[in-house]
Amino acid sequence: MKGIILAGGKGTRLYPMTKSISKQLLPIYDKPLIYYPLSVLLLASINDILIISTPEDLPLYKKLLGDGSRIGVNFTYKIQEKPRGLADAFIIGEDFIGKDSVCLVLGDNVFYGTNMTSILRSAINSNVGATIFGYPVKDPSAFGVVEFDKYNNVISLEEKPEKPKSNYAVPGLYFYDNEVIEIAKSIKPSKRGEIEITEVNKAYLKKNKLKVQLFARGFAWLDTGTPKGMLQAAEFVETVQERQGFYLSCIEEIAWRRGFISTEKLKEIGEELKMTEYGKYILSLCD
Ligand code: DAU
Repeated sequence: MKGIILAGGKGTRLYPMTKSISKQLLPIYDKPLIYYPLSVLLLASINDILIISTPEDLPLYKKLLGDGSRIGVNFTYKIQEKPRGLADAFIIGEDFIGKDSVCLVLGDNVFYGTNMTSILRSAINSNVGATIFGYPVKDPSAFGVVEFDKYNNVISLEEKPEKPKSNYAVPGLYFYDNEVIEIAKSIKPSKRGEIEITEVNKAYLKKNKLKVQLFARGFAWLDTGTPKGMLQAAEFVETVQERQGFYLSCIEEIAWRRGFISTEKLKEIGEELKMTEYGKYILSLCD
């Protein structure tokens, strides 16, 4: 399975912070925002990853993440000239995906909770067509919204509805079979001029090939769409790390736990960063 991180967009809701830099490069406490969705792909044991961003920002992602060999993965980079919509990821990524299945994660989505690995594994193993997730929120009208019956069969999907049919938002994490490329190509732009991921998911629903998995109570899917959301996400990360001593979304740790890099390599990285708490944490894992 291939992985795609969509990290473009204009970030206008975060101006002036994002006037000169991509939103997904801004920090959430002690690491760039993109580390959090990247860690989801690594947890899912996906090590062939395409990063899509704007022409101005892509060089910065290359500077941050390189070719991936440092953490035993393969990063490919592609430009999205204009924010044409989330489904554009599969058109831009067509050659990269090849004949494989694919997981898309949005570069500004933060997930954290127990069972993350088994949730991902079960989504990968049971996927026939498309798998999306449902997460209960107080006000779902700012998101894609999924309605389902008592057997978790999807009934309807809507993008940012004024009157949501359920309080389950659809987070920015999606699993698809290879047909997603052709489906994405067939989607017409919405009123906001974007080829919507919700339309892709509706196409799978029509074919009876869409599954929804629910994130349980207590699981964290954090919003980074506003300065307040970013602050709250940072406080959440700091609180959990400080209390438990485990780091959230330390990509080097996950790469090591998934067997992408050896303990010697992890130690080397820890040595490079040992002037920081982050580096000290990495070194502590090697003992
Ligand atoms: O966060 C989950 C939500 O993401 C879903 O519930 C919605 O169904 C889905 O449409 C999307 O909604 P948003 O309106 O929040 O998406 P936004 O336009 O903010 O884009 C999400 C991220 O993707 C953002 O970091 C920018 C990036 N992006 C967006 C577009 C439209 C791109 O890289 N390229 C694009 O063309």
